[in-house]
Amino acid sequence: MTTPLSTIQNQVPSDVIDLGLGDPSLSLLPLDLIREAAQARLSQADNSFLQYGAEQGDGHFRLALANFLTKGYGFEVSPESIFVTNGISNALDVICTLFTKAGDTIFVEEPTYFLALRIFADHQLNVLSIDTDESGLVIESLEEKLAEFRPKFLYLIPTFQNPTGTTMPQEQRERIVQLAKEYDFIIVADEVYHLLNYTSYAPTPPKSFAAYIDAENVISLGSFSKILAPGLRIGWLQAHSEKIERFKTCGLLDSSGGLNPFTSAITRGVIESGGLDNNIKKLINIYRSRLHVMNSALQEQLPDIEYIVPHGGYFFWLRLPEKTDAKELRKSAQIFKVDFRPGTLFSSRDGLKNQIRLCFVHYEEGEIREGILRLKECLNKAA
Ligand SMILES: Cc1ncc(COP(=O)(O)O)c(C=O)c1O
Repeated sequence: MTTPLSTIQNQVPSDVIDLGLGDPSLSLLPLDLIREAAQARLSQADNSFLQYGAEQGDGHFRLALANFLTKGYGFEVSPESIFVTNGISNALDVICTLFTKAGDTIFVEEPTYFLALRIFADHQLNVLSIDTDESGLVIESLEEKLAEFRPKFLYLIPTFQNPTGTTMPQEQRERIVQLAKEYDFIIVADEVYHLLNYTSYAPTPPKSFAAYIDAENVISLGSFSKILAPGLRIGWLQAHSEKIERFKTCGLLDSSGGLNPFTSAITRGVIESGGLDNNIKKLINIYRSRLHVMNSALQEQLPDIEYIVPHGGYFFWLRLPEKTDAKELRKSAQIFKVDFRPGTLFSSRDGLKNQIRLCFVHYEEGEIREGILRLKECLNKAA
């Protein structure tokens, strides 16, 4: 809900617990960290970040980010392989602009991030979905579709997926990279949740797709939205030098210069001071605890509902009784002052009617418990 004077995208009435919302809590957005980095940067004589920026993105920022990712991803990341974006949404839009035309076919997971589907719709792409299971994309289903269609790209959320929370094992990633070579399509890996890992994967979940960019047709997308603050509108993509060249030389950048030089200059300070590492550690501790609270509340209140416990990211994906229509249920949820996202939103086939997405990061622990209690009451009434 927005009003003429709104500053934020999703304003939930204060008496409603919207467990569907995939935004960080306002109280966890680190104003002090950003203020310190901004003050430090704005008090320097160098004002170059107020000029049109270098097309690939601020070089100092890319260097700081490459060092950060080398640690976070557990393999060497070069600043030359990074292109700065306004976030993943922007990266998806630019990828569609540069590598597709209206009517082209692309593949997505079933289910997938519903707002990516909106971007693909703006580009009038023909979206076909590939089955997934508890370990992500089903390779046989991909192979079957490839026998019939030639996609321009395959959009994947390989780690702590939105909405299912699942993570694709390493062998599957490698097989998809082989298939992309064989069938000449681009892999667009949206790795927005990769660094939000709450369990014992060491040091990180299976390797980011950024490890495969030498394969030329792999693009890995990252963002500061979930590890720092979405309002910064800053992210990055990693790709082979030929792809980077294509991004750097596109018409948009010819006119605008590199994306977001001002925010890059400030975010660089947050990385270099160690503030980003600390912020991620803090988020991981809080989110791990919220995940456990939601899991126990679900087990206590809704013991018959099926789901897989996520190891990271933001979401639980629940399978309600077969006959449930989650869209209809959402209407009666209003009476109980609780909300969620129905599965059909994430489907490219109008399926997943009895599934729902819950987010465990947005609310504090007491509100999560209360939200699950309200969900139970709502389900009891519907039964
Ligand atoms: C899978 C996925 N991709 C992309 C985004 C948006 O990323 P950004 O804020 O970097 O545009 C989100 C946010 O919820 C997401 O869940």
